[in-house]
Order: sequence, then C-alpha cells, then structure tokens
Amino acid sequence: MRKGLTVFGLAFFSFGGLVLAYLQLVSSDEEHMRQMLRVTAWLALLVYLVIFSTRPLRQLTGSPLSRQLLRNRRYFGITLAAMMTVHLILLLLVNEQALNIPGAAIFTLMYLMLLTSFDSAPARIGPRNWRILHKIGLYGLGLAYAGTIGRALLKTPFDPVYLALAFLILAAVAIRIAAYSKTR
Ligand code: HEM
Repeated sequence: MRKGLTVFGLAFFSFGGLVLAYLQLVSSDEEHMRQMLRVTAWLALLVYLVIFSTRPLRQLTGSPLSRQLLRNRRYFGITLAAMMTVHLILLLLVNEQALNIPGAAIFTLMYLMLLTSFDSAPARIGPRNWRILHKIGLYGLGLAYAGTIGRALLKTPFDPVYLALAFLILAAVAIRIAAYSKTR
C-alpha cells in the first residue's frame, strides 16, 4: 500500500510539476493548456500500451525483461492513473463544459482500478471481482485511447504523432492476438 502511494505521489508531482513548469515558462493560455492535454494523454497512452502488452509478451517470449515488466505492471498502472489525473485537472481548468458521460465513466473505472491496486484489495473484493473490474477497465481505457487517436487521425491523416501512436496501438493488439492464439 505504502509503495503504491509513493509511486502515485512521485509520478503525479513530477509529471504535474513538469506540465506546470512548462505552462509557467511558455504561457498558460488555453492553446498551451490544450497542448499539454494532448501531451499528457499521449504519454499516458504509451504507459497504457506497456500495461496492455506485458502479459502477452511474457506468454510469447518468456524473456527476463517481460517477467520484470509483468512483476511491476501494477506500478505502471498507478503511474498511468497519476498521469491521467494531470489530464483531468487540465481539462477541468480548460473545459467550460462538464465531464461527458463516457469520459466520466472511464475516469471512475480508472480510479476504481487504482483503489484496488493495493495489496489487500483482491482479498477484500474477491479475486474474481478484481479480475473482472481490471479487465473491463483495461479494455475501456484502451477503447477510449483508440477512439480519440482514431478521430484525430481522421482529421489529420498524415500527422506523424498520430501515425506513430496508431501503429503502436495496432502492434499491441497484434501481440495480444498472437499470445491468445498461442495459449488456446
Ligand atoms: C470527460 C473526460 C474527458 C475530457 C472532457 C477530455 C478532454 C480533452 C481535451 C479538451 C483534449 C485536447 C483536445 C485538443 O484541444 O486538441 C484531450 C486530449 C486527449 N484526451 Fe482527453 N478528455 C477526457 C477524458 C479522456 C480519457 C478518459 C482518455 C483516455 C483514456 C482521453 C484521452 C485523450 C487523448 C488520447 C487526447 C489527445 C487527442 C489528440 O491528440 O487530439 N481523454 N482530451
């Protein structure tokens, strides 16, 4: 529990601190806040893809790196929640409109996952409920990222950032499918 909270605090304050420093140095007008909204989401997506691919990579390769990643997957999840908390704070500052319902549902799922990422949670809510919650959350977040990047790519099809992110999302899905076929 304590290690999880420390990881959350470190990730939140270092990531949030960098965003704040950038906004102070450059400008904290709406344009730059939106820029930071995009950057926070892009970086969080990279962390998400590590989480999404860790178990299948372990099943496919069995490498020491994949074992190490799997062992620390929970801390990647906690880091992702900290990064998306910075996204949430920025969007509350920039967006006049309230949270939309799908967005609010994804954030709720993410915080439920965070709260149940500490040691005693599976025992308290039951291992089956824990697995269901984390599976729904994992795929829910993935759909939200893929949907947002897909929409951005439709608007600007040759943007290198969107092309790279879309490629990484497709690669992660391919790794999952390959691992699934191998274990069936
Ligand atoms: C109600 C909740 C949310 C709101 C209101 C919101 C709002 C925003 C805004 C205003 C931007 C910047 C768009 C721009 O000006 O170009 C943004 C970017 C982004 N958000 Fe969120 N967000 C929400 C939740 C989420 C969630 C749950 C995810 C993923 C799990 C997510 C992923 C992204 C991504 C990937 C981008 C970058 C999009 C791009 O580069 O065009 N957001 N969001």
